[in-house]
Amino acid sequence: MFSTKALNKSTQRLFSTTNPTNFKVTVLGAGGGIGQPLSLLMKLNHKVTDLRLYDLRGAKGVATDLSHIPTNSTVQGFTPEESDGLKNALDNTDVVLIPAGVPRKPGMTRDDLFSINAGIVRDLAKAAAQYCPNAAICVISNPVNSTVPIVAEVFKKSGVYNPKKLFGVTTLDSIRASRFISEVEGTNPTQEKVTVVGGHSGVTILPLISQTKHSMMPKETREKLIHRIQFGGDEVVQAKNGAGSATLSMAQAGALFAGKILQGLDGEADVITPSFVDSPLFKNEGIEFFSSPITLGPEGAEKIHSLGNLSSEEEEMLATCKETLVKNIAKGKKFIDDSK
Ligand code: NAD
Ligand code: LMR
Repeated sequence: MFSTKALNKSTQRLFSTTNPTNFKVTVLGAGGGIGQPLSLLMKLNHKVTDLRLYDLRGAKGVATDLSHIPTNSTVQGFTPEESDGLKNALDNTDVVLIPAGVPRKPGMTRDDLFSINAGIVRDLAKAAAQYCPNAAICVISNPVNSTVPIVAEVFKKSGVYNPKKLFGVTTLDSIRASRFISEVEGTNPTQEKVTVVGGHSGVTILPLISQTKHSMMPKETREKLIHRIQFGGDEVVQAKNGAGSATLSMAQAGALFAGKILQGLDGEADVITPSFVDSPLFKNEGIEFFSSPITLGPEGAEKIHSLGNLSSEEEEMLATCKETLVKNIAKGKKFIDDSK
């Protein structure tokens, strides 16, 4: 089943010999450590024709800078000071990428960011529900396990929630897993694919090594690898020593994910990638959101894939993952229930 928009795009494709697509993409938090390189990468994506950047600071400068790059898109920057800044950034957009919020410092968990980022994400979600209720909303701001439920509750309260259009971005875990397993095995990282499921923090990050071509890896090596994938974010936080967390690798991950969303919206076939979404997989256990591979299409998340066969070790890790996830999700939901 194709949306009118996808059909219009297919029709345009029939009559166009150059760029078949024209999507609007909005970055909220575009002046930040992730926002700037992510905006650059979206400027380089030929499916994007209208790029809108919003931040409390710096969005206009970033937009003007990027606007000199000769790709297909126009770029505009918006600030809260101008009337209708957020409205104009979001109006009728197709994809919203949200890296707005504070990053970790050494010694903090992602959950420690909740007290500041929950309110930021809530307020941006309220605006998205009002100005672009049909957009695909891609949440990067941490703690993702709680900020995604926050967006869902805000959209529900506004009566515009579409579970197929809300995504927590967990792609950084997948790209780290490819890189780290290649370092262990001495292989080409571009050829390594590790399915990572669950959520996006510590023990909720569950890499399925048994489903890779390296399933016979010695136990001790595997355990170290899994730990590194789960706590890879800490490596960057420590190395940056107070100056934030992963920004450049996250921008690459965010652009990869946004690229998949656009491919799906554009009607391309077999677009599959993991994301933290409203998922039926463990709903009967009270876990409303879970990351697993999903097929993306013109309407957003078209099919949520199951986890496949797990090793006994992975089954145990899944149980631990669920225990934490259920609390993280409840915390996000409660925040909106308690908000006026
Ligand atoms: P940063 O501080 O460099 O940038 C954040 C930007 O958000 C700033 O420019 C700030 O002005 C802006 N901002 C804050 N409140 C805003 C609001 N209400 N409206 C618009 N913009 C607002 O931080 P960063 O390094 O870019 O990280 C951003 C977030 O992404 C953090 O929460 C971090 O933990 C998270 N993150 C997630 C992943 C992931 O895998 N999902 C990876 C890395 C970082
Ligand atoms: C990451 O995985 O790098 C991000 O979630 C940022 C962080 O706080 O570790």
